[in-house]
Amino acid sequence: MIVLLVGSGAREHALARALHLDPSVTQLHAAPGNPGIGDLATLHAIDQNDGASVASLAALVRADLVVVGPEAPLVAGVADAVRAAGIPVFGPSAEAAMLEGSKAFAKEIMAAADVPTAAPRVCDTADEVAAALDEFGAPHVVKDDGLAAGKGVVVTSDRAEALAHGAAVIDAGGRVVVEDFLDGPEVSLFCLCDGSTVVPLQPAQDFKRALDADAGPNTGGMGAYSPLPWAPEGLVDEVVRTVAQPTVDEMARRGTPFVGVLYCGLALTSKGTRVVEFNARFGDPETQVVLARLATPLAGVLLAAAEGRLADIPPLEWKDDAAVTVVVASHGYPASARTGDPITGLRDANHETDVHVLHAGTAFDDQGALVSAGGRVLSVVGEGPTLADARARAYAGVGHVVLEGSHHRTDIAARAAAGENLLEG
Ligand code: GLY
Repeated sequence: MIVLLVGSGAREHALARALHLDPSVTQLHAAPGNPGIGDLATLHAIDQNDGASVASLAALVRADLVVVGPEAPLVAGVADAVRAAGIPVFGPSAEAAMLEGSKAFAKEIMAAADVPTAAPRVCDTADEVAAALDEFGAPHVVKDDGLAAGKGVVVTSDRAEALAHGAAVIDAGGRVVVEDFLDGPEVSLFCLCDGSTVVPLQPAQDFKRALDADAGPNTGGMGAYSPLPWAPEGLVDEVVRTVAQPTVDEMARRGTPFVGVLYCGLALTSKGTRVVEFNARFGDPETQVVLARLATPLAGVLLAAAEGRLADIPPLEWKDDAAVTVVVASHGYPASARTGDPITGLRDANHETDVHVLHAGTAFDDQGALVSAGGRVLSVVGEGPTLADARARAYAGVGHVVLEGSHHRTDIAARAAAGENLLEG
């Protein structure tokens, strides 16, 4: 099978690694990819958000399957262009990707499908934001309705900060969604969908705040782990039954079937499981740990989803091992990420037992040296028989990375690895 992968982050590097390990994949292409993906795939320097370019490339390389990683090309209609060219594509249409592209639309679908979520107020003015903040009280949850690369959500007890975020979104021409705060630990569950059938992967937890102990600003994600030993038995079945399947059914009923990953961001609250957000693609960095644990070859599963055959595939198989990933971020991330700093130590990190380093914001400079090129630079993955082993290995890998001014969290998976029940606070 010839596969074309669209995207350039650590999530796409994890997808590329899993596809590369699949014996049915005879050729792997990536557009645009990154230096790490370049070790596994032929890279093509095209605009990943341009559907016509991606569809032409897919035809040129005779792709049997196109996998679209990030949200921006999905919302821009890249999957539609590939599908229109008659090539199977794993990723939702632009209309279906609005589950991520508009928080207000996602809330509308959840209401129609009776999916449990926080009460929302959609606001077009600063006065409406202020009224919604007062209605719900602190802590305040203020979201940019549209795509914001992980920076659109502010959760704060500081009313002035909440108002300022809402005003900034509105001043930029956007719409704001203010929500009731959901207590309890958060879980990410990715569900593969073919328009009607839902196949869940294993749950993971990510760490969205920049600093240890969940301090500092929100980021795209600073680390993740899987499995979740503290999660209630039956959680996955419950989420498929009460969240993913009703959502997929509602999208099909509206004539906009959802094909791809329905990312269910969940809070396990004192009142039950609630949806925090939907995304229309694999999560980053959770994908790095979920795919590390998947034993079933990936390409056939994604092709089955793209072709509407998920009901026919055998149950997915999983390794017993745990996986932990730690994100190494550049100086100043998330406020203002510095780029162009040399990166060394990756060979030593990759030589650690059961460690692999995934590239996100990296590039080669004019001399061919690897340098930082984004906020989240690397995602170091450790695997092991227990979460504690996987965690120790991930941090051993991080210990080899040299990137001036970089920072990473030191507490990724610490509580779960120590056996804490996160449901108890
Ligand atoms: N880990 C958060 C996201 O992928 O949106």
